[in-house]
Amino acid sequence: MGVYETLFRFAEVSHKYMGDPGTHPWAQGFPLTTQLPGGPPLPDSIAITAADRMYPKADGQPPLREAIADYYRHFHGAKITADNVAVFAGGRPGIFAILLFLLEDWQVAIEETEYTPYWDILKLLRRPTVLIPSNPQNRFRPTLADHPTAKQTLLVKSNPCNPTGVTVKAADLQRMVDHYSQPGRAALFDEAYEFFCDGGAVSALRHVSDIERTDLFISGAATKGLQVPGMRVGWIVAAKRHIELFRNYSSLGMGGISRASQLYVTQLLQRERVAQAQQAVAAFYSSQRKRYADGLQKLGLELFTGDGGFYHWLKLPKGLTGDAFNERLMQHDAAILPGRLCDMARRGDAGPMGQMARFSFGPLLASSYDNDLAILAKCL
Ligand SMILES: Cc1ncc(COP(=O)(O)O)c(C=O)c1O
Repeated sequence: MGVYETLFRFAEVSHKYMGDPGTHPWAQGFPLTTQLPGGPPLPDSIAITAADRMYPKADGQPPLREAIADYYRHFHGAKITADNVAVFAGGRPGIFAILLFLLEDWQVAIEETEYTPYWDILKLLRRPTVLIPSNPQNRFRPTLADHPTAKQTLLVKSNPCNPTGVTVKAADLQRMVDHYSQPGRAALFDEAYEFFCDGGAVSALRHVSDIERTDLFISGAATKGLQVPGMRVGWIVAAKRHIELFRNYSSLGMGGISRASQLYVTQLLQRERVAQAQQAVAAFYSSQRKRYADGLQKLGLELFTGDGGFYHWLKLPKGLTGDAFNERLMQHDAAILPGRLCDMARRGDAGPMGQMARFSFGPLLASSYDNDLAILAKCL
């Protein structure tokens, strides 16, 4: 059930929906949907014609697929075309489709601490899974040496990682891409937080020399970096033969993506606008990451956060569990995500993530800082 467990409990205790004005949605993974300091404005409208009221193409409208391909070519030097892009209704449906179509005799390698819904999808699809250690012992920083060596393995990895913010980049990412480009190996790099990286956007596509010779899947979305979670637009970049499969999936299971949303997101991907958005997102969220790190550490919390994403991944003091902490926070219309929901083996409070918590500063305005820390101090 993931984050919804926390949202339902929050509604029960506070009679409010987390994210409503006056609540403190530290459990939630959405960004600000307003203009950031130095960032581009977000358009208020789009024009719709009779053609836009027709069914969309199964793999996405050509101008959007081209805008996505152009984005990766221009900003990451990727050697891809629009034929390597399939559009989905947000980030998760693309991830779901990859795991749905995975051959039955393949296993999934996944870090022990990862994005909550991966666990649910893997369980629902009954995928055999092997865990890559990511826990307090290695400070949630596994290396390629920790990965399984067996063939017929698909790596599923968020990078930057949700919840830890740890980001594999440069030579380490090159090695990981090379490893999973070999025959019998495959990888899904989920880059939902691509813009939220100290030192600039990171993509595995920068390190792929010929995507057609790989089973690599790079997932992106307009959800976080382009600040439009409500548009429900995401995409997968992969070899053409995989994109054809996704086209079939779309036509049988999804019916394409809202044309209005695709039109909206196509405008957001204009090169100069993206360059400005990347800078503004990185500057604002790096500063928030640092401010909250200072404040949380002053409260005596141990942080394990990397340099990406918009979460702090922390250990609660004195045996306090995430759920017990939430019962206190909910009295103040606040909540965090209990760490046990990021445990890919779901070992509950007794497991290595029982005392961990994910604090989200994604939806927070810079002005909420003092009040946020005051609530946290009271509850600790
Ligand atoms: C790691 C990761 N991947 C993918 C997504 C996809 O988001 P959506 O399906 O809302 O576009 C999210 C959103 O929280 C995420 O954290």
